[in-house]
Amino acid sequence: MTKPRLWITRRLSDATLERAARDYDVVINHDDTPGSAQDLIAASHAFDAIIPCHSEHFSADVVAQFGDRLQIVANHSVGVDHCDLQALKARGITITNTPDVLSDATAELAMLLMLGAARHAVAGDRIVRSGAWDSWSPAFMVGKQVTGARLGIIGMGRVGRAFAAKARGFDMEIHYFNRSRLPDAQAHGATYHDSIESLLGVADFLSLHCPATPQTADLMNADRLALLPQGAVLVNTARGALVDEDALMGALDSGQVAAAGLDCFKTEPGGNPAFAQYDNIFMLPHIGSATVQTRDAMGFRALDNLDAYFAGKAPGDAL
Ligand code: DGY
Repeated sequence: MTKPRLWITRRLSDATLERAARDYDVVINHDDTPGSAQDLIAASHAFDAIIPCHSEHFSADVVAQFGDRLQIVANHSVGVDHCDLQALKARGITITNTPDVLSDATAELAMLLMLGAARHAVAGDRIVRSGAWDSWSPAFMVGKQVTGARLGIIGMGRVGRAFAAKARGFDMEIHYFNRSRLPDAQAHGATYHDSIESLLGVADFLSLHCPATPQTADLMNADRLALLPQGAVLVNTARGALVDEDALMGALDSGQVAAAGLDCFKTEPGGNPAFAQYDNIFMLPHIGSATVQTRDAMGFRALDNLDAYFAGKAPGDAL
């Protein structure tokens, strides 16, 4: 039986690539460069399946130029804002993602960003590293305590709930806004707010865990940032599109926001060069899911979806 032809757009984990090579007629982009629009269009003529990452953009324009061979796009990501789902579905192409498996890794990174932003990790590291640490004083690098503080979470999906679970270990008082209120068994005592505005008023720390959609673009704009308690800390491990970056700099300048921990930016890769002048922004290069265990799990989840599809079953993570 001929194996389905699969294009893997980036260098996934070794275990993923080995499994893919066993079961598929696979071409792997060992260069690890993002697939361009032309690459995607060419692949749609030559492959039955693609495993892309969020670095490949399936815009309506690109999908309109697709050939007829491609049957399934099995994303190696939970976020699918790089895919025009409507356009892909209109072509009869199945789309899947990799939920669950990266929730803990992303929540761990949100915790790192929250703690690092609150406790001046960037400035502290720079002072020690540069040899400029020449005195100690009780007034030196005084940060904001996480333990017992109020944490606001926007988006109580899998990652939001995983982050809440970790934050409970710091005795944080957890508040959340979500499209719908969670059942008590999932909320574990977290307080539901029926509007973002209400949540912001209590969020000494605010962490974003919702997808990038037209409705959430610039969710944290100047008006909303102004509703945070003075000296709040903002954490974003979701998508850069959720934050108005100019407004964030304004809020940092005024002190409304004391610090921010960001793993994602409007422009990726690269980030916002203007952020570099802020010692109180702790920045990481979109590595929320980047652990050895999670990379394997994401790759295997994408392959599970492909296996189901080519066995004539509905993939578990079909969107
Ligand atoms: C995701 O899975 O959406 C992460 O942001 C990495 O792509």
